[in-house]
Amino acid sequence: MQILCSIPEMQAVNYPAGSKVGFVPTMGYLHEGHLSLVDAAVKSSDLVVVSIFVNPAQFAPSEDLDSYPRDFDRDLALLEKRKVDYVFFPTADEMYPPGYKTWVEVEGISHILCGNTRPEHFKGVSTVVLKLLNIVRPQSMYMGEKDFQQLTVLQRMTQDLNLGVDIIGCPIIREEDGLAKSSRNLYLKGKEREQATCLYKALTNSQKLVAAGELAAEKIIAAAEQLILDSLVKVDYIKIVDGRDLSEVQDIDEHSRMLIAAWVGKPRLIDNMSLKA
Ligand code: PAJ
Repeated sequence: MQILCSIPEMQAVNYPAGSKVGFVPTMGYLHEGHLSLVDAAVKSSDLVVVSIFVNPAQFAPSEDLDSYPRDFDRDLALLEKRKVDYVFFPTADEMYPPGYKTWVEVEGISHILCGNTRPEHFKGVSTVVLKLLNIVRPQSMYMGEKDFQQLTVLQRMTQDLNLGVDIIGCPIIREEDGLAKSSRNLYLKGKEREQATCLYKALTNSQKLVAAGELAAEKIIAAAEQLILDSLVKVDYIKIVDGRDLSEVQDIDEHSRMLIAAWVGKPRLIDNMSLKA
């Protein structure tokens, strides 16, 4: 496994002609969610590149950039075991040098849902991912459905800008009690860890309501909200959207997906699930 700590080093990698390069962008502090993407990439690619970069551009000044967990040595050991070929680990100064001025924004869908509370977030994500794609030059990029809005925004970007990269969405990996794995779960203190399972419970309860014949989004959202409030967790949003374009829906169909963001104490957690009617 080669570790490349500068952009020119990564750009200089000469992939053998015809080899299929799979790419997994991450912010490090890897858990089984990230590693499931790496496994999917290894399975379907000739060469796999993983990037580790805590992207300052996607954190607001009030957010947790400085305290975002980091453990590069542990990450490397995990990636080494999984037959990753290259780890790209650039510095923020090199990615955003003095005088940096260029941003990419996917209009509309970057400003709803998580974009309401984090207005600059997806601009930071689209910009860094476009830069990483230009530097790494993969055929496929593997991303988690855990960040469903991010996946949709980046699918739109790659399509709109004719990047010719396949984005492969991979299922959410969860703890035994249903909590979606996340680097931010580390911040959950004491009883917050148990409270945090209410997102999963609200999603599975919504699925059950749909399976029992309830198709009115408003009623399903009200039940989910009650379940979350009963756990003393503060809701940011609960929406049911069409998974293809994130537009809100009134009546459930096979494309409907519930997306939730909520604060469990200080940490803000997100989760989502298909409601398949
Ligand atoms: P990060 O939060 O490190 O996540 C990297 C990838 O892992 C994302 O595609 C995310 O959806 C996926 N992932 C995280 N938790 C998961 C889980 N429990 N199950 C399945 N996949 C999971 O997302 C980012 O970094 C950044 O925004 C990035 C795309 C790297 C741009 O900076």
